[in-house]
Amino acid sequence: MDKLATLEGLEKEIMGDKSLSLLKSNLVFGEGDPNCEVLFIGEAPGFNEDQQKRPFVGRAGQLLRKCIREIGWQEIDVYITNIVKRRPPDNRDPLPEEIESYKPYLTRQIDIINPKVIVPLGRFSMNYFLPMAKITRDQGKLFKVGKYFILPMLHPAAALRGNEAMKTFENTFKKLPGALQKINTPEVPEPEPEQKTQKAQRLEDVQSRLF
Ligand code: URA
Repeated sequence: MDKLATLEGLEKEIMGDKSLSLLKSNLVFGEGDPNCEVLFIGEAPGFNEDQQKRPFVGRAGQLLRKCIREIGWQEIDVYITNIVKRRPPDNRDPLPEEIESYKPYLTRQIDIINPKVIVPLGRFSMNYFLPMAKITRDQGKLFKVGKYFILPMLHPAAALRGNEAMKTFENTFKKLPGALQKINTPEVPEPEPEQKTQKAQRLEDVQSRLF
């Protein structure tokens, strides 16, 4: 499948859908490598994102992009988008009906990209995948939802508001390469009965190294 062309088709479809909410704002579809392994999903575009029609280009976005570079990746190697694809007025939180309205498109966007790991940024995005999760309790934990691994993080805007939150955000970010490596490590083949203890030990080692 030509993922780029399919995503472009999806973007045109969203553009033409006049039943969506927040139609007064610009469409911020998302950007990055459609063949990426890691997909970041924020909440909704803010003022700068609306102006530039690009996700995460304001202060919070600068932090996100800096952290991506600091773990040795490039911004263009990952994909960055939002649950709600147009800016809510005055940067208010997205309403449940706004999230619902964009949901089918986000689902299709995720399925086209088919990443290895999804990183929800902040509680709105996290609750989209994990409705019962609490951001302060569950950020930094690796979950599996359907076929996707989910590693929730604090929203970078929250990290900018306090020292502790910044430390938490940066520490979780550093786990990302290890989490991806773990996900990409093929299952240890089923051992002969006498080797079972060894296999269990190896899995425990991998887990404790990562988290
Ligand atoms: N905050 C978000 O959640 N998304 C953006 O694109 C920018 C700021």
